[in-house]
Amino acid sequence: RVQAHKWYPRFHVAPRAYWMNDPNGFSYFNGEYHLFYQHHPFSPEWGPMHWGHVVSRDLVHWEHLPVALAPSTEDDADGCFSGSAIEVNGKLVAMYTGNVWTGPDHDTDLKQVQMIAESSDGIHFTKRVEPVINEAPEGDIHPYHFRDPKVWEHNGTYYCVLGSRTKDHQGQVLLYRSDDLLNWAFMAVAAKKEGNGGFMWECPDLFHLGEHDVLVMSPQGVKPEGEKFHNLHQAVYVLGELEYGTGTFTHGDFHMLDAGFDFYAPQTLEDPEGRRVMIGWMDMWESEMPTQAHGFCGAMTIPRVLVPDGDRLLVQPLPELAELRREAVSYENQPVTAKQTFDSVNGTCLELRVEVNIKNADAFRVNFRSGSEEKTVLRWDKKDAAVTLDRTKSGAGVSGTRTVKVNTESDILKFRLFLDQSSAEIFINDGEAVMTARIYPEETSDGIEFEAEGEAVIERLEKWELHSVFSQKG
Ligand code: FRU
Repeated sequence: RVQAHKWYPRFHVAPRAYWMNDPNGFSYFNGEYHLFYQHHPFSPEWGPMHWGHVVSRDLVHWEHLPVALAPSTEDDADGCFSGSAIEVNGKLVAMYTGNVWTGPDHDTDLKQVQMIAESSDGIHFTKRVEPVINEAPEGDIHPYHFRDPKVWEHNGTYYCVLGSRTKDHQGQVLLYRSDDLLNWAFMAVAAKKEGNGGFMWECPDLFHLGEHDVLVMSPQGVKPEGEKFHNLHQAVYVLGELEYGTGTFTHGDFHMLDAGFDFYAPQTLEDPEGRRVMIGWMDMWESEMPTQAHGFCGAMTIPRVLVPDGDRLLVQPLPELAELRREAVSYENQPVTAKQTFDSVNGTCLELRVEVNIKNADAFRVNFRSGSEEKTVLRWDKKDAAVTLDRTKSGAGVSGTRTVKVNTESDILKFRLFLDQSSAEIFINDGEAVMTARIYPEETSDGIEFEAEGEAVIERLEKWELHSVFSQKG
């Protein structure tokens, strides 16, 4: 059983076995949250894509369901690629990309079209055999790389955004409209970026939040700018204003949605309370994937809530995740100078909240998943006004550091860590930044140590064991 493996996630959505990548069709239908995902049900390697499926009543506890979509028609024979889902007249309608290889080179020899499948129960889907968008529009638009429809409804009309690139390989997003989800009219290239925008924009998502329209997407090949954009694949957002009449989307520059290593192709939904909830693939194409040798690969992040904050978004863990909390320990007003540990503050599967006063400190570090040879280090350095996540000693395969600037005007630094068997998600200062990393330590590496240069005072420290979220009915 792969679920018993030391690296198999306990409170993250992961396939029962074999391969997972992007979240797909993230939606609320008949009182349940549906989450589909890119899945290869026959191997821990990427291959002909199916849609795996999990369902939840609360976004916290999940149940596996059978594969929802499999390659079966002339147009999706080599893969049911990423897409979205929307409720229409009591049915759940999935819109996805059909992929066919036309030769051996997966970069040039492909045909992509957009397809529809419908379900009355949210579980069994019937495909429309004909694609609803058969070819890419005219203009400076690459004819084949054209995928990942995200559909939404606005004032009685359906819209969708599609990932695309220009003919000379600059990422861009296409906007379409439709009255019935079957006949689609191309409106405009909604967004592209001069300069360092990457060669392909995958998995776009567009929604209104607070004062803005937000475009989320996953550009490939953006080059590093200072501490930003150090992953070949990453997820960004831009804030702007979509003019629905013309399809013109006026927008600002890229902001990273996650400053860590492993966060890609996120998708969002609006929940019944009006919150914008996002889930991402907790991996990335060029990441090390040592679990493949053990028959499984890929996981989703925890659900995250996007909260508008002026010209930025805060990214916060879904509050309901508190339901996973079991044994708790807490400490208050603990000065930290040299290396220090606290009774019962350790483990492999936990939530840790730390509020530390760093007024008199030059550096503050939390080492977690620490053992005789291993540790993953989260450190704040006054001289850089930044937090760095260091996984050079995090275990099998992984390496490197990622850094993000943080605001410490209040002298208080807040960390909230979610550790699972092979992952860390770190929310900084109420969602000002988040850093996600896969790590592959030994199970015995379960220590947590705190260290400071100068004196830091941990004003509050709380730790909870977290429990598993899956029931295995499917
Ligand atoms: C993003 C992506 C999508 C594509 C899917 C294929 O990770 O490359 O663009 O639809 O994965 O699995």
